[in-house]
Amino acid sequence: MAKGEAQAEDQAALAARRRVEQQREREKRARERAQLGGLWSRRDVFGRFGWSVFAAFSGVSLLAAIRSAFPRVLFTPPSTFKAGLPTDYAIGEVSEKFKKDQRVWIIRTEAGLYALFAKCTHLGCTPRWLTAENKFKCPCHGSGFYKTGVNFEGPAPRPLERLRITRAEDGQLLIDKGVKYLYEKGEWTKPGAFLKA
Ligand code: FES
Repeated sequence: MAKGEAQAEDQAALAARRRVEQQREREKRARERAQLGGLWSRRDVFGRFGWSVFAAFSGVSLLAAIRSAFPRVLFTPPSTFKAGLPTDYAIGEVSEKFKKDQRVWIIRTEAGLYALFAKCTHLGCTPRWLTAENKFKCPCHGSGFYKTGVNFEGPAPRPLERLRITRAEDGQLLIDKGVKYLYEKGEWTKPGAFLKA
């Protein structure tokens, strides 16, 4: 009976040791997994960073390639416009028909027509035509210009500029804002600065 009890105790002790061993083994594996997991996390971080840099670089390169396929084009408005027939203008009148859209006055005299650029030669404001006073007046600093465009008061240092005026094939007036005639350079007598009509 005593021998049987001793055997039972040995088996219980053995089972307890096994449980302890198994518990240690589980804890050891858990620690190893935790270490392994941490290592992989760091690798993931570096990997993700690398891929992000690569993706950003690829994106920029792609955008540059697309951009180069569409070269930058500057759309400049045409410098010329048609302004109707000479008979559309009354003699002695300063027409403001194209002032808003084209910044141009068209003036008809007994002898013909000329086009003035509506830009003050002081600092570039747009003067007004004052019919009652028969003059152009700049609202910014008070420069005044005769109907011819010649300056006579205020800080403007020179007359208004005239623009090329010719006849188009269909007989209409053709104004070219790309060609200017300066009084101070004696250019108002050039063909194009005045259209006989
Ligand atoms: S801008 Fe016209 S007077 Fe100064």
